[in-house]
This record gives sequence, structure tokens and C-alpha cells, in this order.
Amino acid sequence: VPALEQEAENATISQGVVESNHAGFSGTGFVNYNNVVGSSVEYTITADQGGEHELTFRYANGTTADRPVSVTVDGAGAQTVSFPGTGAWTTWQTRTAKVTLKVGANKIKATATTANGGPNADKLTA
Ligand code: GCU
Ligand code: CA
Repeated sequence: VPALEQEAENATISQGVVESNHAGFSGTGFVNYNNVVGSSVEYTITADQGGEHELTFRYANGTTADRPVSVTVDGAGAQTVSFPGTGAWTTWQTRTAKVTLKVGANKIKATATTANGGPNADKLTA
């Protein structure tokens, strides 16, 4: 079955931990990115149609500073997506990005670009 959604806690995490101490997440938890440049979550989205897709990232950022991440598909086409403050770690919002996917499995990697790390990441939907 094509998976057009993946929970961050089920993705491939580099320099981050799965936590569940801030309510409102879907699934069993969320990823707390380590607060460093380069921490990342790599999702696998299996598309049954190639071409442009809109990705929706669900996240929380309880600070007032943006937590931008670099988004790539299969390692290419880097674009920066902004994750501004949501008001509280328990307030979850979404941000979108347009990408080109191929039929089959696509690796969507979201890598922190600042020393604050990424936002808390709940899930990705395509
Ligand atoms: C707090 C919060 C974490 C968050 C972190 C951060 O520690 O509890 O969920 O990831 O701040 O600033 O990144
Ligand atoms: Ca963090």
C-alpha cells in the first residue's frame, strides 16, 4: 500500500530522539531534533504518481525563533522550509513545501540549518 504519510518517530532519525512529553502529537510521539546544525529526520514517502506533490510537515516550536530546515528528495533539490514559533510546544501547526516525487519510494530528508536544531517534528504527509 503506498504510504503517503509517515510519523517522524518511524522515520530515520540522526541526532534526535523520540519523545512524547508534549501533548497533541499524532501516532506515538514526535522527534525532538538535537539543537545543532545537521540534526535530521529522513522520511520515506511511497508515491503512486510521479510529479509535483505538496508536502505537509506537522510540527511544534515553543520558541520565538524560526527553526528552518533544508528539505531534499533523494539527496537533491535542497530548499529551505521555515518553521516559525507556534506559541507552545503543545501547539502543533503545519508548513508545506512543493517537491517532485517519483513513483515508488522517495527519501525526504529534513535537516536543521541552525544551531537551534529543527522544530519538534510530528509527521509528514504528501
Ligand atoms: C525544550 C522542549 C523540547 C524541545 C527543546 C528545543 O527542551 O521540551 O521538546 O525540543 O526545548 O528547544 O529544541
Ligand atoms: Ca530540540
